[in-house]
Formats: sequence, structure tokens, C-alpha cells
Amino acid sequence: MSDQYTRARAAADFIRSRFADTPVLGIILGSGLGNFATHVENAIAIAYSEIPGWPLSTVVGHSGKLVLGTIGGVCVAVMQGRVHAYEGYSMAEVTFPTRVLGLLGCTKLIVTNAAGGINASYSEGTLVNITDHINLTGTNAALGPNEPRFGLVPGTGERFFDMSTAYSPRFRSIAHAEAESQQINLRDGVYLAVLGPSFETPAEIRAFRTLGADLVGMSTVHEVIVARHMGMEVLGFSLVTNMAAGVVDKTIHHEDVMEIGKRVEAEFTTLLKALIPQIAQFLPPIGH
Ligand code: HPA
Repeated sequence: MSDQYTRARAAADFIRSRFADTPVLGIILGSGLGNFATHVENAIAIAYSEIPGWPLSTVVGHSGKLVLGTIGGVCVAVMQGRVHAYEGYSMAEVTFPTRVLGLLGCTKLIVTNAAGGINASYSEGTLVNITDHINLTGTNAALGPNEPRFGLVPGTGERFFDMSTAYSPRFRSIAHAEAESQQINLRDGVYLAVLGPSFETPAEIRAFRTLGADLVGMSTVHEVIVARHMGMEVLGFSLVTNMAAGVVDKTIHHEDVMEIGKRVEAEFTTLLKALIPQIAQFLPPIGH
């Protein structure tokens, strides 16, 4: 079998044969947030099943297509649905779509997810700007031989790479300024990733709080790690779809995760649409 770089290149070439423009911003939509893709203008949608090498999600609520077009005049590639490691996918598979977005030309990435709230001042429906993450999935997305050809700008694609500003400080301050001007309550938080698929126990959530986590989820960190390996600049949002185990006296259901997404959709959409042209205007940073 060919290497991941060759496979990701082939997928990017296939997408380019369907869509000639160069997307500069990739957007990964999490559970319950997939509807945002309907706001892409001049859109063409490609089912994941058509793209060579692209992994297919088995989770309800992840509809599985790549939508290319413009938002606010910015050429974007929007992933409606993602795969998770808990489905049994390898790190190479989980990170394949992010690698392809990078090779398509996306030097910027917005990641979104549904998460459990650990911070007791959050509640269902709280929108959180991710400031940093803790990877407790037990693995790392950049595992295996290093592939320098994934580096998009000089100084990236290296074996060891910096994660101290994984979530772009300048993007985060723009997000807060925009949220404030729209009177949207945007909080800050540290996202802790577990492998899943079981939700956590109350004892685990207490431990995670001690570690400094505000949110818990089963995605995002792998994508952000390979995005940083490639030199992409990242902005991340979590939607608190439920308070984490033991924080409130309530059991957790995947259906609730989807339902809360619908409730905050309007706010989330307005914020994201306003942010896209603002973050797109930055030139890519050179290296780390
Ligand atoms: N735990 C882990 N992942 C999640 C949760 C949770 O409580 N809610 C949504 N995704």
C-alpha cells in the first residue's frame, strides 16, 4: 500500500478535478453542527465515499460530505462529519481528511466539536473557544515515520513540532471581539480528549478537572496535532451539549448532543460567518 502522503495527494488531486479553486480555510463540523455547511455559496458537495482513501463515519449525525465553495467571499472546504478513533480507525485514517485539507491549500483550520462541560460555570448550550488541549487518548496523531512533505510552509513538517500556540492567539482574540460585538456569550476553555466511545465516569471527570480541563470530548486533538505539523493556523470551538458525568445529576445520551446543536445553530452560524473573512485576511505564519 502507498504511503499516507501519496494517498492524501491522490485524494486532493481528485477533489481538485471537481473543484478548480483553492480553498484557503478548512472547517471541520462536529456532532450537531453539520448544518453550517448549508451556508456555503456556489457550493459543490462531494460525498466522502467518492473520495479515494477518505474514511467513512459510522456515527449517526455525521452525514459525510465535503462541501467546497465560498463564505463571505473566502474559498472554504467544509467537512460535514468526521471519523473518530473510537470507531476503530487508525491515527492515519482519522487524520487523513486534515492532511487532504492542507494539501488542497488550506493554511487555516476551524475545528468544532460537541463536548461535555467539566467547568461548573458552563451549562448546556455554552459556546466555548478552545484555548488549549490535553491529549489523554493514549496515542498521538503524528505517530509513525515523519513525512516532511506535509509541511506547508518552511519550518513545518518536522519530526518534533511546537504545540505551545496550537490554538492561534490572534484568531482567538478576533473570535472574542466578534462574539462581544454580537452579544454572544463565548467562553474560554481547555479541551481534554479521551478515546471513547464510553462517556466518562464521575471519578474520571473529577480527575480531569484537577488536571485543568474545562471540557471533555472524543475528537479534535488528532486533527489539531497534524494541522500544526503541517503549519496550519487553528481556531477551535466546543459546544457544550451536556454537563460531564457527575457534574449534574443526569445521565448522558447521544441524542441530547444532537438536540443542543440545533438549539445554538443560529448563534454559532452568525459568529462563524462573521469570523471567516476576518481570519482569512491574515497571511500564513512562516514556520514555527
Ligand atoms: N464526554 C465525552 N464526549 C462528549 C461528551 C461527554 O460528556 N458530550 C459530547 N461529547
